[in-house]
Amino acid sequence: MTTTLHDPQLATLIDEIGALVAAHDDEQVLTELVAERLRAALATGIDLPEPLTRPDTERYVMYPLHVDPDGRFSIASAVWNVGQGTPVHGHETWGVVGIHSGVEHEISFDKPEREGLPLTQNGEEEWGVGQVTVCCTTDDDVHQVFCGGDEPCVGIHVYGADIGTLPRRSYQPETGEVSWFTSRWTQPNRTEPTR
Ligand SMILES: [Fe+2]
Repeated sequence: MTTTLHDPQLATLIDEIGALVAAHDDEQVLTELVAERLRAALATGIDLPEPLTRPDTERYVMYPLHVDPDGRFSIASAVWNVGQGTPVHGHETWGVVGIHSGVEHEISFDKPEREGLPLTQNGEEEWGVGQVTVCCTTDDDVHQVFCGGDEPCVGIHVYGADIGTLPRRSYQPETGEVSWFTSRWTQPNRTEPTR
Protein backbone atom coordinates (compact mmCIF):
# COMPACT_ATOMS: atom_id res chain seq x y z
CA MET A 1 0.00 0.00 0.00
CA THR A 2 1.32 3.43 -0.81
CA THR A 3 0.19 6.91 0.04
CA THR A 4 -3.05 8.11 -1.49
CA LEU A 5 -2.78 11.59 -0.01
CA HIS A 6 -1.12 14.62 -1.44
CA ASP A 7 -0.62 16.83 1.57
CA PRO A 8 2.94 18.14 1.21
CA GLN A 9 3.61 18.07 4.97
CA LEU A 10 2.57 14.45 5.11
CA ALA A 11 4.66 13.55 2.07
CA THR A 12 7.69 15.20 3.68
CA LEU A 13 7.01 13.45 6.97
CA ILE A 14 6.84 10.06 5.24
CA ASP A 15 10.17 10.68 3.53
CA GLU A 16 11.76 11.85 6.77
CA ILE A 17 10.52 8.88 8.77
CA GLY A 18 11.66 6.48 6.04
CA ALA A 19 15.14 7.98 6.21
CA LEU A 20 15.20 7.82 10.02
CA VAL A 21 14.06 4.18 10.05
CA ALA A 22 16.80 3.31 7.56
CA ALA A 23 19.45 5.10 9.61
CA HIS A 24 18.66 4.09 13.22
CA ASP A 25 18.28 0.69 14.86
CA ASP A 26 18.11 1.97 18.44
CA GLU A 27 14.40 2.32 19.32
CA GLN A 28 15.00 4.99 21.96
CA VAL A 29 16.93 7.17 19.53
CA LEU A 30 14.60 6.47 16.62
CA THR A 31 11.38 7.25 18.50
CA GLU A 32 12.76 10.55 19.81
CA LEU A 33 13.77 11.56 16.30
CA VAL A 34 10.40 10.50 14.83
CA ALA A 35 8.66 12.45 17.62
CA GLU A 36 10.72 15.53 16.75
CA ARG A 37 9.72 15.31 13.06
CA LEU A 38 6.05 14.64 13.85
CA ARG A 39 6.00 17.61 16.25
CA ALA A 40 7.41 19.85 13.52
CA ALA A 41 4.91 18.57 10.92
CA LEU A 42 1.96 19.17 13.26
CA ALA A 43 3.23 22.66 14.06
CA THR A 44 3.31 23.47 10.35
CA GLY A 45 -0.06 21.83 9.79
CA ILE A 46 -1.09 18.50 8.27
CA ASP A 47 -4.23 18.78 6.18
CA LEU A 48 -6.17 15.54 6.53
CA PRO A 49 -9.20 15.08 4.23
CA GLU A 50 -12.43 14.86 6.20
CA PRO A 51 -13.05 11.14 5.39
CA LEU A 52 -9.79 10.36 7.23
CA THR A 53 -10.93 12.17 10.37
CA ARG A 54 -14.47 10.83 10.44
CA PRO A 55 -15.42 8.91 13.58
CA ASP A 56 -17.35 5.66 13.44
CA THR A 57 -20.45 5.33 15.58
CA GLU A 58 -19.50 1.82 16.75
CA ARG A 59 -15.80 1.86 17.61
CA TYR A 60 -12.53 3.71 17.19
CA VAL A 61 -11.00 3.46 13.72
CA MET A 62 -7.51 3.50 12.18
CA TYR A 63 -7.28 4.90 8.66
CA PRO A 64 -4.02 4.22 6.79
CA LEU A 65 -2.15 7.40 5.85
CA HIS A 66 0.89 5.43 4.72
CA VAL A 67 2.12 1.87 4.90
CA ASP A 68 5.76 1.40 3.98
CA PRO A 69 5.99 -1.08 1.08
CA ASP A 70 8.58 -3.07 3.06
CA GLY A 71 6.52 -2.97 6.25
CA ARG A 72 9.18 -1.00 8.16
CA PHE A 73 6.67 1.56 9.46
CA SER A 74 3.12 2.78 9.02
CA ILE A 75 1.25 6.00 9.73
CA ALA A 76 -2.38 5.99 10.82
CA SER A 77 -5.09 8.53 11.39
CA ALA A 78 -6.60 7.11 14.59
CA VAL A 79 -10.06 8.46 15.35
CA TRP A 80 -11.99 8.14 18.59
CA ASN A 81 -15.50 9.43 18.80
CA VAL A 82 -16.67 11.04 22.04
CA GLY A 83 -17.01 8.30 24.65
CA GLN A 84 -14.90 5.73 22.76
CA GLY A 85 -11.71 4.09 23.98
CA THR A 86 -9.52 1.04 23.69
CA PRO A 87 -8.94 -1.95 25.92
CA VAL A 88 -5.58 -2.07 27.70
CA HIS A 89 -3.26 -3.12 24.89
CA GLY A 90 0.28 -3.44 23.60
CA HIS A 91 1.75 -2.77 20.16
CA GLU A 92 4.64 -5.24 19.78
CA THR A 93 6.62 -2.47 18.07
CA TRP A 94 7.63 1.14 18.68
CA GLY A 95 5.08 3.93 18.29
CA VAL A 96 4.85 7.71 18.33
CA VAL A 97 1.56 9.58 18.68
CA GLY A 98 0.76 13.20 17.82
CA ILE A 99 -2.58 14.93 18.23
CA HIS A 100 -4.21 16.43 15.16
CA SER A 101 -7.48 17.48 16.83
CA GLY A 102 -9.29 16.90 20.08
CA VAL A 103 -7.79 15.41 23.23
CA GLU A 104 -6.39 11.91 23.74
CA HIS A 105 -6.57 10.59 27.30
CA GLU A 106 -3.91 7.94 27.97
CA ILE A 107 -3.43 5.61 30.92
CA SER A 108 -0.06 3.82 30.92
CA PHE A 109 0.87 0.54 32.58
CA ASP A 110 4.12 -1.26 33.31
CA LYS A 111 4.65 -4.07 30.83
CA PRO A 112 4.16 -7.26 32.87
CA GLU A 113 7.13 -9.61 33.07
CA ARG A 114 4.89 -12.51 32.15
CA GLU A 115 1.30 -13.29 31.35
CA GLY A 116 -1.01 -13.64 34.35
CA LEU A 117 0.42 -10.86 36.51
CA PRO A 118 -1.96 -7.99 37.38
CA LEU A 119 -0.99 -4.76 35.66
CA THR A 120 0.35 -1.71 37.48
CA GLN A 121 -0.66 1.74 36.27
CA ASN A 122 2.33 4.07 35.93
CA GLY A 123 0.87 7.24 34.44
CA GLU A 124 -2.12 9.16 33.17
CA GLU A 125 -1.92 12.03 30.70
CA GLU A 126 -4.07 14.17 28.45
CA TRP A 127 -2.52 15.03 25.09
CA GLY A 128 -3.83 18.06 23.19
CA VAL A 129 -3.46 19.44 19.68
CA GLY A 130 0.15 19.52 18.50
CA GLN A 131 1.49 17.46 21.40
CA VAL A 132 3.54 14.36 20.61
CA THR A 133 4.43 11.41 22.80
CA VAL A 134 6.44 8.23 22.37
CA CYS A 135 3.65 5.81 23.21
CA CYS A 136 5.54 2.59 22.97
CA THR A 137 8.85 0.84 22.78
CA THR A 138 9.60 -2.82 23.31
CA ASP A 139 10.13 -2.30 27.06
CA ASP A 140 7.29 0.16 27.61
CA ASP A 141 4.39 -0.96 25.49
CA VAL A 142 1.13 -1.10 27.44
CA HIS A 143 -1.55 1.55 27.63
CA GLN A 144 -5.22 2.37 27.27
CA VAL A 145 -6.52 5.34 25.30
CA PHE A 146 -9.81 7.25 25.38
CA CYS A 147 -11.27 10.24 23.65
CA GLY A 148 -10.93 13.10 26.13
CA GLY A 149 -13.25 16.07 26.04
CA ASP A 150 -16.43 16.60 24.10
CA GLU A 151 -15.24 16.38 20.50
CA PRO A 152 -13.77 13.45 18.53
CA CYS A 153 -10.03 12.90 18.87
CA VAL A 154 -7.84 12.45 15.80
CA GLY A 155 -4.27 11.31 16.32
CA ILE A 156 -1.48 10.73 13.85
CA HIS A 157 0.15 7.49 14.95
CA VAL A 158 3.48 6.24 13.63
CA TYR A 159 4.42 2.60 14.26
CA GLY A 160 7.48 0.50 13.49
CA ALA A 161 5.52 -2.05 11.47
CA ASP A 162 2.30 -2.35 9.46
CA ILE A 163 0.06 -1.87 12.49
CA GLY A 164 -3.03 -2.93 10.52
CA THR A 165 -1.72 -6.49 10.15
CA LEU A 166 0.39 -6.93 13.31
CA PRO A 167 -0.94 -9.34 15.95
CA ARG A 168 -0.73 -7.72 19.38
CA ARG A 169 -1.78 -8.17 22.96
CA SER A 170 -4.85 -6.99 24.78
CA TYR A 171 -4.71 -7.26 28.59
CA GLN A 172 -7.28 -7.80 31.29
CA PRO A 173 -5.62 -5.41 33.79
CA GLU A 174 -6.88 -7.05 37.03
CA THR A 175 -5.64 -10.54 36.11
CA GLY A 176 -3.05 -9.90 33.40
CA GLU A 177 -4.89 -12.32 31.13
CA VAL A 178 -3.83 -11.80 27.52
CA SER A 179 -5.78 -12.11 24.31
CA TRP A 180 -4.30 -11.44 20.89
CA PHE A 181 -5.92 -9.15 18.34
CA THR A 182 -5.21 -7.21 15.16
CA SER A 183 -6.63 -3.70 14.75
CA ARG A 184 -7.34 -3.90 11.03
CA TRP A 185 -7.21 -0.84 8.83
CA THR A 186 -10.45 0.96 8.08
CA GLN A 187 -10.61 2.21 4.51
CA PRO A 188 -12.12 5.71 4.42
CA ASN A 189 -15.61 6.04 3.05
CA ARG A 190 -15.45 8.96 0.68
CA THR A 191 -19.19 9.46 0.55
CA GLU A 192 -20.81 12.09 2.73
CA PRO A 193 -21.70 11.01 6.26
CA THR A 194 -25.29 10.06 6.94
CA ARG A 195 -27.03 12.77 8.87
FE1 LIG B 1 -2.06 2.15 21.58
